[in-house]
Amino acid sequence: MTPERFKTISELRIVLDRHRASGAEVGFVPTMGYLHDGHGSLIRAARSANDVVIASIFVNPLQFAPDEDLAAYPRDLDRDAALAADAGADYLFVPSVEEMYPFGPVLTTVAVSDLSERWDGASRPTHFAGVATVVSKLFNIVGPCRAYFGEKDFQQLAVIRRMVADLSIPVEVVGCPIVREPDGLAMSSRNIYLSAEDRAAAVVLRRSLDAGAESALSAGADPDTIESAMQAIFDAEPRAKLDYLAVVDPATLRRPDALGSEVQLLVAAYLGSTRLIDNCTVQRGS
Ligand code: PAJ
Repeated sequence: MTPERFKTISELRIVLDRHRASGAEVGFVPTMGYLHDGHGSLIRAARSANDVVIASIFVNPLQFAPDEDLAAYPRDLDRDAALAADAGADYLFVPSVEEMYPFGPVLTTVAVSDLSERWDGASRPTHFAGVATVVSKLFNIVGPCRAYFGEKDFQQLAVIRRMVADLSIPVEVVGCPIVREPDGLAMSSRNIYLSAEDRAAAVVLRRSLDAGAESALSAGADPDTIESAMQAIFDAEPRAKLDYLAVVDPATLRRPDALGSEVQLLVAAYLGSTRLIDNCTVQRGS
């Protein structure tokens, strides 16, 4: 069944308050729309563990810098509604910018320092404050028991987990595995921007992670050798412009001096003007 759509906070609250009053657990999947199976996997995970499932679609201006793709961000609400229905969403929250930010620029923001400042945050300095602010606002609007986020945006997930812990927000944050295209490219709404040549070359991110993972599992591995193995893959793909690659501790997102039992590999690169990110976890044993 097509999910019922809500455009206003007040109408949505009436319906969700009624569900909560009858003891229902609400699962929530925030998105910016142009849904693909990565989003679908989050909605399915929410469906399997909650009585009521709501997804939001809101292209949040706060998390885009002035030179980024806010105006061009792809939108297709009818297609999104069909995908959300297939995955099992009961409701869609699709607010306008005016509904979310009725007074214009917000005066109150949520900033998760340290975790937001490195990697993607270094390239996009205002991004994570925009994400943390809108996600905390959406949590206040929806009041979910559980909220679902993809590991695809590994740093975003870390920022949100920390925000929830620091502010004692009563929601369980659930991380879900990355969903990939058959050739290994992580699904993303932004993949639609890629030319055929850049789409073919975009597997370089995944290949670099694979090379890094292999290196991380070899004897005597250290962060430098892993990063060199990842870099070599980019050196062989002139279409890709590397933004960063990094070996980090998954909890702190800091580069370790020596490898622990679990390491996180992160990568961000431009194909043409499209910025793509990817990551993987490597378990090295103890
Ligand atoms: P968006 O890019 O639409 O992603 C919504 C959610 O889908 C995020 O939790 C993201 O990590 C997850 N996701 C995207 N691609 C995925 C994939 N290939 N596999 C698994 N999960 C995937 O992330 C945002 O929107 C926004 O920043 C948001 C959190 C909604 C705040 O505006």
